[in-house]
This record gives sequence, structure tokens and C-alpha cells, in this order.
Amino acid sequence: MLNKILIDLRSDTVTKPTPAMRKAMAEAEVGDDVFLEDPTVNRLQEVVADLLGKEAALFVPSGTMGNQIAIRGLTQPGDEVICEADAHFLHYELGGIAALSGVHARTIRGVRGVITAEQIAALIRPAVYYMPTTKLIALENTHNRAGGAIFPVEEIQKIAALAKQHDLRLHLDGARLWNASAATGIPPHEYAHAFDSVSVCFSKGLGAPVGSALAGSREFIARARRIRKMFGGGMRQAGILAAAAIYALEHQRARLVEDHRNARRLAEGVADIPGLEIEHESVQTNIVIINIAQTRMEAATAVTALLQEGVGVVAFGLYVLRAVTHSEITGEDIESAVKVFRKVFLR
Ligand SMILES: Cc1ncc(COP(=O)(O)O)c(C=O)c1O
Repeated sequence: MLNKILIDLRSDTVTKPTPAMRKAMAEAEVGDDVFLEDPTVNRLQEVVADLLGKEAALFVPSGTMGNQIAIRGLTQPGDEVICEADAHFLHYELGGIAALSGVHARTIRGVRGVITAEQIAALIRPAVYYMPTTKLIALENTHNRAGGAIFPVEEIQKIAALAKQHDLRLHLDGARLWNASAATGIPPHEYAHAFDSVSVCFSKGLGAPVGSALAGSREFIARARRIRKMFGGGMRQAGILAAAAIYALEHQRARLVEDHRNARRLAEGVADIPGLEIEHESVQTNIVIINIAQTRMEAATAVTALLQEGVGVVAFGLYVLRAVTHSEITGEDIESAVKVFRKVFLR
């Protein structure tokens, strides 16, 4: 039986819809979206396409489905995808790229999730008939396992130029692109510009209960809509969910900087505890990765000990913890969480 989590830093997906968001959901105009007749879904798709500077967008149930549809839509079985070794879709999407698209990954160990055009160039296959075809480069911004790290626009531009030169497609897993934009002030469309497909989420820092979107050219999105249906993601009166996403985009993006401030405070507090190291010292957004190897306490034990004191985090490796800030975490919560860390690790 789990102890009650009082300060839930396990993920930014744990937030519950606010009364105002629920009101927007209750009042949403709906229709059958498989017949393209849900006005609220259609509006959300326009809003997202606009924010990302793309011709069209498609509402999908999850970030996982957004990534998987994109990869299916941009590749052929047997193709090769170049990505960072800790990409979300490699760790947490159940081998979906192999199962659903018949492709495999060639990975590069990045620095804080960032891989360079130079590293990618070295892995692009020559046009030799007995080799796989390099088809797609997939990036992640912000990068989850790298602690919410931001992928710089300058490197994206270099990678885009390389992709163009070799006729490769580019996909962005932008589940937390909103956080990158909030932190840097660079608008989402600038980050998204070079990509053939961009997936974004509403159910992470933005606090919607469900939903993600995929954006790209009109032609790509028409193809993505067919794949979504094939994957079982065609939804009916989904306007109730799209209304929450629209509300989230309109009201919850600006406040993400508070989550980033809280993440930095947490990192500073925790880094003061002997034996605890913040793996990525400069916390850029809302994810804090804590290395506890020096304490010799395994992450699973630490998770249980912290939970007993009411603080929820997740194990991210044998001696690694992840804590994520979000709209339901206050500055006082952070102070309390740091006290709990001290209690657990200094006893
Ligand atoms: C970077 C990234 N991409 C994709 C996903 C998948 O999103 P979902 O849980 O909605 O499938 C996540 C989930 O946390 C994520 O962090």
C-alpha cells in the first residue's frame, strides 16, 4: 500500500484539471471527429498548427502515439533512424518503432541530450545496396532523461541543413517544447521550423488531463490521420479533451517559468546535501536529475524512504532519481521536499 504522496514530484503528468479547465471542457462544442466534425478539435488543431508554424496539426491521445505516428509516417520498414541514446521513444515506448514501423535506431550519446550535426553526419549511411537506408533524424526538446535540457536552435539549424543535403526527414519529440520556449523566450515555431513533424503534449506541464498533437505539412498530416486511425487513435466527441488542451495552451504556458524556478530551488537545496549530486548542474527547465551513488543507497530504496515522508520521485537508474516540478507544486512544497531529502539522506 502506497503512503499518501503530499508533494508529488514524480512527473508533471500528475496534475489534475482545474475548475476553470473543467468548465471549458463541460462547455465544449463537440461532434464526431472521425467524420472531421468536432469543432473544438478542429480549432485546437488550427491553434497548434499556428503556434508551431505548420500547415496542419492532428490531435492524438498521447505523446507516444504522436511519436509513433510520425515515425511510421516518415519511414519505410528497414529504414534507420538516428537519435540520441536516451531518447524517450527508445526507453519508454515499448520498442514501438520496431513493432509498429519496422525500423531500428542508430544512437548517439549526446551531451545533455544534444547531438550535433557533425556526430550525425558520421552515421549517415552511404547509398550502398546492402546497407539500411538512413531516413530520419529524431530530436527531443526538452530532453526528458537529460533533465529537461533545451536543444539549441543553432544546432537544430545545422542538423536541418545536413538533413536537407542528404534528403533525410526530421522529427521533433516536443512533449515539453513549451518548457523550452518559456525558458528561452524563443517562440515554439522557431524551434519547430526545420522539422517535418513535431509532436507536442498538453498533459505534461500544461496540466490537461489527456492529449498531444502532431504538426507538419497538410500532406503529412493527412497521412498521419490515416495512421492514427490504424493505430486505434481515431476519437469521436474528443472536443471535451481538446477544450482542455486549448485552455492549457492559453492559460498555462506563461506560468511554466515558475516550475523552472522551483526546479532550480530544489536542485540547489538538494545539491547542498552531502553525497547528493545534481547530474546536470544547471537545471534549465522543470526536471531535476539527482545522482545518489555516493550515499550507496539504491534509487528504489530512496524512492520508498522519500515516499514514507510524503515526497514522490521516480528512480531513473540504479542510483539516479528524477524529480519534476509542475503547477501543483509551490515554493513551500519545495522547501518541505528539501527538508525531507535532508531527513532521508542525513540519517
Ligand atoms: C519527451 C517525451 N516524449 C514523449 C512522451 C510520451 O508521452 P505520453 O506519456 O503522453 O505517451 C513523454 C512522456 O513523459 C516524454 O517525456
